[in-house]
Amino acid sequence: MGVLENKARARLFYKYLSTVYDRINPFVWNERMRSEALSLLEFPDPEEAMVLDVGCGTGFATEGLLEHADVVYGIDQSEHQLEKAYAKFGKRGRVRFHRGDAERLPFASNSFDIVWSSGSIEYWPNPILALREFRRVLKPGGQVLVVGPNYPENPIAAALADATMLFYDEYEADRMFKTAGFEDVRHMFQGPSYEPEVAITTVARTPDGD
Ligand SMILES: C[S@@+](CC[C@H](N)C(=O)[O-])C[C@H]1O[C@@H](n2cnc3c(N)ncnc32)[C@H](O)[C@@H]1O
Repeated sequence: MGVLENKARARLFYKYLSTVYDRINPFVWNERMRSEALSLLEFPDPEEAMVLDVGCGTGFATEGLLEHADVVYGIDQSEHQLEKAYAKFGKRGRVRFHRGDAERLPFASNSFDIVWSSGSIEYWPNPILALREFRRVLKPGGQVLVVGPNYPENPIAAALADATMLFYDEYEADRMFKTAGFEDVRHMFQGPSYEPEVAITTVARTPDGD
């Protein structure tokens, strides 16, 4: 398990990274990639859409989700990341912020149409537990979208990646999402303007009538 797949260490990491996050983020995760990922989802009527952003951080993806939903719920375990998000969206505006853990969501079952999470799964000690939580809070037929780090092909990069956090390929993503009870699991690979494709984006649904 990578050194950052630990909640306390990830919190400490983001205490410092939050100060520069919005400046370095576009090098690996930019607006074009966000739009491509958003286009994989079917949003209900914006007035009614119940959308959750897990590991919302400073709100980069939340901003995109707000183009499709009047209200977005955001949760993150880092108070420092959340402070940056409050500064952008206000603490009690269209984003309903919560401080908490992806693996233990403070929401009722069958609440959301869409659960989104970008760039956060790599820090969760137990991703399947978190994905099961996503499934629990999603309505039947609800959609999940997770952006995570694509497993590097170069063996040296792969060894470094494994020592740091969770990187995974489509086979591992399939296994995780299906084990958590999702159906219609699909993947898309994305990258910024340079190679390689650094992100793997997975979309899936909860079974209908679950
Ligand atoms: C790379 S940032 C992604 C932020 C945002 N989603 C985006 O698209 O730019 C990862 C975020 O995941 C959060 N995070 C890590 N582990 C978490 C956990 N177990 N529960 C909730 N948030 C977590 C971090 O605090 C950090 O804000």
